[in-house]
Amino acid sequence: MATERGILVLAHSYQDGFIQDAAHFVGDSLELARQAAQSEAEAICFCGVHFMAETAALLCPEAEVFVPDLDAGCSLADSCVAEDLARYQDHLESKLGKRPRTVAYINCTAAVKALSDIICTSGNAKAVVESLPPDDPILFVPDRHLGGWLNETTGREMELWDGACMVHELFSVETLRELQAAHPEAITLSHPECPKAVRDASDHVLGTAGMLKIAGNHEGATFLVGTEGNMLYRLKQVAPQNTYLSAPGASCACNLCPHMQLNTAAKLRAALDSKGPRVQVPAEVAGPARRALERMLDVV
Ligand code: 13P
Ligand code: SF4
Repeated sequence: MATERGILVLAHSYQDGFIQDAAHFVGDSLELARQAAQSEAEAICFCGVHFMAETAALLCPEAEVFVPDLDAGCSLADSCVAEDLARYQDHLESKLGKRPRTVAYINCTAAVKALSDIICTSGNAKAVVESLPPDDPILFVPDRHLGGWLNETTGREMELWDGACMVHELFSVETLRELQAAHPEAITLSHPECPKAVRDASDHVLGTAGMLKIAGNHEGATFLVGTEGNMLYRLKQVAPQNTYLSAPGASCACNLCPHMQLNTAAKLRAALDSKGPRVQVPAEVAGPARRALERMLDVV
């Protein structure tokens, strides 16, 4: 239906099952960015959060990009305001005698992307950091957990911005240990946005696309999944031969992202009918933000 009207519907794996089923393509942040970059659609309905729709608008400038709910934000994007970042970059430059390169996790605003040298996602972050000259100082924004994991796995000593995902931050290592004791055969997967204690207690630390790949390589396995709750729907769709259990947080049993949850079936229908609300990026921000995204797509 949407295709007939020239609308491509993209959805992140953290959207609820109805929205995933309604989309032409479901993926992680990197796959969705690539889909937008390759798209020839006249319009893109982006079912995810605001920074993801902005990314689609940057990479597919000819398309009208719109979302079911304009208020679907992200705690990581909110934690890093462009003006504060610019001040901190200046401060580091005078402290180090050299301006650090800024690597921004894609979970940030277009204005922050415009101040960054290169973007990364959870799926390509290690390769992006390793693509930079080894002696150059790096400022990594905005996720301190992903940044910490990158420092551990690449041996770099990047300066880290103090942001966190409000969903993954609450994952509890105690609850995870209890689940592991109850399911000793289970394989634990955790997203790099999880705190270090949770990552250290996991068999694999990887983004959502990596989780789907590992699941697809197993038959009859049980997985404890340390990421947003709707990912279980996606895992069951792609690799139904396994069992998936959510590794819940200390104070939240559901692990659903409240921002992703703002997109409902009714709002999706209304958005497709009206081709709105639109997401647009001002021209002065769009140029440098797009260049930082394209540098990422050139790496992997
Ligand atoms: P992915 O990079 O796995 O798509 O994750 C995006 C995200 O928002 C995680 O909270
Ligand atoms: Fe942002 Fe966390 Fe929601 Fe992902 S799960 S969109 S990082 S608040």
